[in-house]
Amino acid sequence: MNRLVIAVDGPAGAGKSTISKAIAKRLNIEYIDTGAMYRAVTLKLLRSNVDFDDEASIKDILSKIDINLSEGKVYLDGEDVSEEIRMPYISSRVSEVAAMPLVREKLVEIQRKMASTKSVIMDGRDIGTNVLRDEANLKVYLTASVRERGNRRYKELKEKGLEVTLEDICREIENRDKYDMSREINPLCKAEDAVLVDTTGKSIEQVVQEIIRLVGNIGGKSNVL
Ligand code: CDP
Ligand code: CDP
Repeated sequence: MNRLVIAVDGPAGAGKSTISKAIAKRLNIEYIDTGAMYRAVTLKLLRSNVDFDDEASIKDILSKIDINLSEGKVYLDGEDVSEEIRMPYISSRVSEVAAMPLVREKLVEIQRKMASTKSVIMDGRDIGTNVLRDEANLKVYLTASVRERGNRRYKELKEKGLEVTLEDICREIENRDKYDMSREINPLCKAEDAVLVDTTGKSIEQVVQEIIRLVGNIGGKSNVL
């Protein structure tokens, strides 16, 4: 096999980034978090105070924006925004921004470029169905029950000292799933050729092992990793 190209999609809190990061480390390949890119654009638009209907201004902002992913950090115009983009005020607006054709066009182009020359594992919502539809040699669709996904997010936010309720988090996740699954352009759905992995009740290590096994079987061969 030449390049290893793994696409991971699924709803919020399914474990995409945790699992993808662990696999990248184990296989010594690059991890690309496309959700972080949509979050960074959302932060930029909110900071710019632009009206979300104002296409001309958004086009102008996108033409100048600089988003960089490096060593697990996310940089927006040179500033480390890794923490800021995980805040609930970004989570509650990001799906609106991700549904904008201009934004998707711009980010998909960057994402394809990032994955064009090296072995990568890329996670998001439309990686197996769109961004790396033809390039991926393994597609995984990760999911888990809403309650479990809500609980995972709740724990994370509590640990950061944020005042949130489990009900609010579950509602936010369900709203975002609905929005992401029903938008017109590249909605979240399982690619026909993706392997469905339900992570409910599974540990991170169990899921990582399951996917490493799938990597070993790419092309119907038992590849030695
Ligand atoms: O980590 P979490 O699952 O909460 O979300 P994320 O991966 O950071 O993605 C945030 C949002 O960006 C999603 O809810 C989608 O609206 C959007 N997104 C997308 O539309 N396409 C992608 N490839 C990745 C994210
Ligand atoms: O990227 P995505 O929104 O799909 O999920 P994530 O941010 O990777 O995972 C959400 C949380 O679930 C993290 O705190 C993980 O440690 C946790 N997790 C887990 O407890 N068990 C799993 N099998 C996978 C993730």
